[in-house]
Amino acid sequence: MIQAAAALAAAHFAAPLAYYLYAKRWLRRPWDVEARDGYTPYITIIVPTYNEAPLIEAKLDDIARQDYPPDKLQIIVVDSASTDGTPEKAERWARQRRAPLEVLREPQRNGKAHALNLALRHARGDIVVITDADSHWPDPQTLRRAARWLSDPTIGAVTCLKRPAGRRGVEATYRDYYNVLRLAESKMWATPIFHGELAAFRKELLEKIGGFPAHLGADDSHTAVLIAASGYRAIAAEDLHCVELVPKQYWRWRVRRAQHLVQHFAASLRLKTPRRFKLPLYAEAYLHLVNPWLLPGAAASLAASGGLPALALLGAGLAALLYKPYRAWVAMQLYLMAGAVRNLWTRDLAWRKEEKTATASRR
Ligand code: GDD
Ligand code: MN
Repeated sequence: MIQAAAALAAAHFAAPLAYYLYAKRWLRRPWDVEARDGYTPYITIIVPTYNEAPLIEAKLDDIARQDYPPDKLQIIVVDSASTDGTPEKAERWARQRRAPLEVLREPQRNGKAHALNLALRHARGDIVVITDADSHWPDPQTLRRAARWLSDPTIGAVTCLKRPAGRRGVEATYRDYYNVLRLAESKMWATPIFHGELAAFRKELLEKIGGFPAHLGADDSHTAVLIAASGYRAIAAEDLHCVELVPKQYWRWRVRRAQHLVQHFAASLRLKTPRRFKLPLYAEAYLHLVNPWLLPGAAASLAASGGLPALALLGAGLAALLYKPYRAWVAMQLYLMAGAVRNLWTRDLAWRKEEKTATASRR
């Protein structure tokens, strides 16, 4: 039993470590893209909202700070039956600023992707940029930079690297590790994880894949994977940064996001994909769907084998939780398992609004 536990634990930690070390080698490689400076296609920015009244004006101000030709920018807020006056606030912002803004309203809430598809039908841009209301882009050149990457005909989608607002904590530790993987995977071919804080897509490709996938929660990542599966690169770029607010109910938020990632990877396994995309896709699918379960498997076999050495090992595993990176890792595994289980009774496509404050997180 103790050998079985050791094997499970070794496999659990070795697989992500090996992938991470392999990925790091890719970081040094060139991008292999031909991007054109000064490329300014027509862009449609879509902000999906559900009860974002405290944040919507700051979000629109942030977009307005972008250095991009105004005549090449369409901004759409698509709201799904908010009860806190979000669309009215957006309209007032547009009147006061005399800024062209289209506010679309869904009479009923059917989830974010459903709303994005409504907005997509109104989009005139060659490029469609999705951005969540609770995020911002620190650099005014963000749109220009995103457009520059998309000037390469092999790139179909681009996303940002993200960091949490506020002081550094577990969430930030987790982000450092993940951003390395996102960049490395992007250099391999495409990353299967995109961010709703900034996800830019070529519109013709969105239309080709039939719009945003409304049957699962991680619309941002799954759209990127569908585009990568159709033969285009979907990348996270090193010069695109976004900041997101971390809600107070951290644990519930993480479980829901994990739940959506599980839905996304399970669906991605059914796709036929280009050769260069197989490694990042299958590695991430394994890390999200299978690898977490080896950890309780190891703990259970230790507990079952009883005896002093086994219990001492179990105790050491628990004591190591005092070490922050290890704790962040274990927490992530728990979120993924909780998410997989929760998927058995709900897909949570119209999720509970979490409370976030503009000054952000305590974590
Ligand atoms: N129109 C509309 N309709 N917008 C919605 C709905 C809806 O039913 N539900 C959520 N939104 C909006 C929110 O107002 C926000 O602007 C954005 O979608 C993201 O929602 P958050 O509540 O901030 O969720 P998050 O920060 O955890 O979202 C992340 O994970 C999601 C998947 O779990 C982001 O990466 C999202 O892009 C991703 O879809
Ligand atoms: Mn958010």
